[in-house]
Amino acid sequence: MKIISIESLNKILEKHGFENYLKDLMEALKRDYSRWDKFTKMPRPAMHVPGGVLELMPICDNELYYTFKYVNCHPKNPESGKMTIVATGQLSRIDTGYPLMFSEMTLLTALRTAANSALATNLMARKNAKVLAVIGTGAQSEFQVKGMQLIRDIKEVRYFDIDAKAMDKFEKNMKDSGLKLVRGKNVQETIENADIITVCTACKANVDVIKNDWVKNGMHLNALGGDTVGKTELELSILNRSRIVVEYFEQSFIEGEIQRLKLKDAKKMVSAEMFEIINGNQKGRENDKEITLFDSVGIGLEDYSALRLTYELSKRYGIGEELNLLPDMKDPKDLISLIK
Ligand SMILES: NC(=O)c1ccc[n+]([C@@H]2O[C@H](COP(=O)([O-])OP(=O)(O)OC[C@H]3O[C@@H](n4cnc5c(N)ncnc54)[C@H](O)[C@@H]3O)[C@@H](O)[C@H]2O)c1
Repeated sequence: MKIISIESLNKILEKHGFENYLKDLMEALKRDYSRWDKFTKMPRPAMHVPGGVLELMPICDNELYYTFKYVNCHPKNPESGKMTIVATGQLSRIDTGYPLMFSEMTLLTALRTAANSALATNLMARKNAKVLAVIGTGAQSEFQVKGMQLIRDIKEVRYFDIDAKAMDKFEKNMKDSGLKLVRGKNVQETIENADIITVCTACKANVDVIKNDWVKNGMHLNALGGDTVGKTELELSILNRSRIVVEYFEQSFIEGEIQRLKLKDAKKMVSAEMFEIINGNQKGRENDKEITLFDSVGIGLEDYSALRLTYELSKRYGIGEELNLLPDMKDPKDLISLIK
């Protein structure tokens, strides 16, 4: 069974190119969203524990692979030097059920979330969008910017975090990006005049990080941090003014910004699931005045696309360690023979 460690993933990204990987992941996501009905899927089971949540994200298609990701979200972890989110995942064959690959997924989550936001933003933001605002400059933030650069001619990135050190880190990592970097004093000032706003804060509460009054016509919002029960980032009234797209209504209604709505209102207010705009059956935006909102929670399909692409590239480049995790005997019923 193949093991993809952080070192192996880095080798893949080096061989293939970081940008190429993100672009290929966007294509893989498009392919997988466009065959939405071919997947067996479910809202992810989540176990809420003091200070965080532990989630398992299983999905399978009808011809090749089953994947799952284990992921947590503990917003207070950075206070003790740990990440808010870490993840691991597995890819198995569906014909025999045999696992093929076990992978690190902390980096893969950031990569697939960036590719997924880019895919949605490409379909929803104004074509002439040039100014990006990032609220929350933690682990996901730089990946998100790199995703946006693939789909729009971004000239300026405005950013704000309640943690000044997180902003220093973001600045340092983005200094060679060729972008004009503007450090905000607060959220309101930071998002003023932005075309695209990506909110990726972490706090397990209903926080109005973005207020309705600050959101202007024509803006596109990617709201990534509202992704579990009791954890949202937008003032509720923003939803009434926006064209809302979600990944998967059943899961988003439990975890996304729309969790604060009544079911009948949510059904009325959500204009589409991602696969519908990818398949061209729904629009991501009608006109330049509209406010568009990608209410993202992260779904198993995105991890499937990332694991499958990583598996294919690991084979192409011969990268990854083989570990003896699966029994291999002449007589498949003679399991006890493995014990020496
Ligand atoms: N939708 C998805 O697919 C997806 C994928 C990955 C992560 N996420 C979510 O994105 C969020 C960010 O993840 P991360 O890994 O970057 O976490 P992180 O802890 O590394 O960064 C979060 C940052 O938000 C800042 N912050 C908290 N409250 C704020 C506020 N009111 N205003 C401004 N900044 C604030 C924190 O100081 C921190 O720097 C998390 O909530 C996570 O659950 C969503």
